[in-house]
Amino acid sequence: MSNDITAVLGATGNTGRRVTARLRLRDTPVRAASRSSRTPFDWFHPAGWDQVLRDVTTAYVVPVPVPGPVHDFVARAEAAGVRRLVLLSGHDADDWGDSASGLDMRSAEDAVRGSALEWTTLRASDFAQNFDGHPFRAPPAAGEPALPAGAVPEPFIDLEDVADVAAAVLSEPGQHAGRVYELTGPRGLTWAEAVELISRASGLPTVYRRISPAEYTATLVQEGWGQDEAQHLTEMFVLLERGTAAWTSDDVATVLGCAPRPFEDFALRATAAEARRC
Ligand SMILES: NC(=O)c1ccc[n+]([C@@H]2O[C@H](COP(=O)([O-])OP(=O)(O)OC[C@H]3O[C@@H](n4cnc5c(N)ncnc54)[C@H](OP(=O)(O)O)[C@@H]3O)[C@@H](O)[C@H]2O)c1
Repeated sequence: MSNDITAVLGATGNTGRRVTARLRLRDTPVRAASRSSRTPFDWFHPAGWDQVLRDVTTAYVVPVPVPGPVHDFVARAEAAGVRRLVLLSGHDADDWGDSASGLDMRSAEDAVRGSALEWTTLRASDFAQNFDGHPFRAPPAAGEPALPAGAVPEPFIDLEDVADVAAAVLSEPGQHAGRVYELTGPRGLTWAEAVELISRASGLPTVYRRISPAEYTATLVQEGWGQDEAQHLTEMFVLLERGTAAWTSDDVATVLGCAPRPFEDFALRATAAEARRC
């Protein structure tokens, strides 16, 4: 059995499943872990962590939105002989203040930064694929997406770029030590502009509607979200409206040697998928 395994946490999620597939194609021994994976990993059941960390040298860490558990995980990883950690965080994490998202992200970032291990942090902006329905509840090419976001542009990043960067960093020991990469798309778009691109690609009349934060929270709760979870997501939109996270970065190109995918690429793929469903 290999003793040089890369553990991917959140392996069933947006980034984790893409990172896992890329590592497998590179013939990297991978242990895909999450609550529902064959190797179970639960952030709130530390008793199972040692099994996940056995023979692991590198770990891709997708934290849950609660401050704290990454500190315990890092200590356990150090004890288990892990050498490198690659953490997924959020774009512009330093500017999120004492919001719930700010506290979560900084707690996880502090945990890896304060460790004795080689670490790299990937701070991703909002994923273009959020328009697939979760978490924005704004399905492309259908209905009337309604969000509490106005004229501030968001540099949406394509999940394929996040996964490409993560797989590269996980596969290149020593080259990204102590680096914080801000992963953004090539340009900012308002939510209305993003929806318009999807609408144009699909040929369907999708119209963006701006709603108040309170309306958005109420809609999410009506759809079955917990109050805290709904407020957490709403707060993210309120903070983005300040504009401090609207900037773009060249870090995708720094790691991959090529520019990030434009939003139009996502619009094409999303609407092609829609067409197949019809
Ligand atoms: N959405 C965005 O635009 C965006 C942008 C930047 C950063 N982020 C950050 O990305 C992270 C989410 O990553 P993602 O989008 O790749 O994942 P995701 O699609 O949100 O899925 C979450 C993953 O974590 C696992 N998970 C959930 N609860 C868990 C628990 N208690 N213990 C262990 N695993 C658990 C889930 O699998 P199981 O259900 O099988 O456990 C799943 O694999 C968050 O920290 C978020 O802040 C998101």
